[in-house]
Amino acid sequence: MVEFALPRNSKVTPGRRHAAPAGAGKVKAFKVYRYDPETGLNPRWDVYEVDTSACGPMVLDVLIHIKNTMDPTLAFRRSCREGVCGSCAMNIGGRNTLACTVGWEECPGKEIAISPLPHMPVIKDLIPDLEIFFAQYSSIEPWLHTDTPTPQREWAQAPDERKKLDGLYECILCACCSTSCPSYWWNGDKYLGPATLLQAYRWLADSRDEAKGERLDGLEDPFKLYRCHTIMNCAQVCPKGLNPAKAIAEIKKMLVERVI
Ligand code: SF4
Ligand code: SF4
Ligand code: FES
Repeated sequence: MVEFALPRNSKVTPGRRHAAPAGAGKVKAFKVYRYDPETGLNPRWDVYEVDTSACGPMVLDVLIHIKNTMDPTLAFRRSCREGVCGSCAMNIGGRNTLACTVGWEECPGKEIAISPLPHMPVIKDLIPDLEIFFAQYSSIEPWLHTDTPTPQREWAQAPDERKKLDGLYECILCACCSTSCPSYWWNGDKYLGPATLLQAYRWLADSRDEAKGERLDGLEDPFKLYRCHTIMNCAQVCPKGLNPAKAIAEIKKMLVERVI
């Protein structure tokens, strides 16, 4: 019989419980994934009983409160606090989302579970290693390719041409979609994933770009593009309300139309 063994450090163990301070107002428990590869120990779930009357309404406010008042060793990324930079993406209550735009009262569970974006290597605690994700983004050459001389003022577009970029340019590269995609989980080194493919389509759809053929050549590959099986997790989790699956379908359509 075949036996499967998981890597030793894949088992998450129970961790420490940090009690609420004496006299705390409205207490809520948060179960937070903790991992420091330098210790050689398995990851663990630490539970923090947070006095929510002493912090703001968002999950990011809670994490900042924990770091400032309960446990300065907790590591996570954040920058804008406005849902713009994408750096606070993590899994909250079983769903990939942005910690700065989700209120903790909206999250399910007696103890709200917070872990890093799934199926990515973890650098520390809630910080995933996004090196491959951004290398894939870079591989689609996300800038304008044109031989037209640079205009004096701006690259003008007709309103209807500009409209084609709606639903694409708003992507903040948070990786919530790619890390919720089963195809990306299993083939993340070869499949470009929904975020990068949405970005690839953003340049294919740009009327000012003159490298459509080369861009399509680069995507016509059984793994880079065709691992999307329209499972739609990506569109369900995108915190900006975008639909990467639709963008992927548009790329496939462009490839079919050019061979006809
Ligand atoms: S639709 Fe495609 S890209 Fe989106 S989650 Fe499903 S397989 Fe992944
Ligand atoms: S498509 Fe949405 S979920 Fe995916 S990276 Fe862009 S903003 Fe994030
Ligand atoms: S901190 Fe920038 S998106 Fe959350």
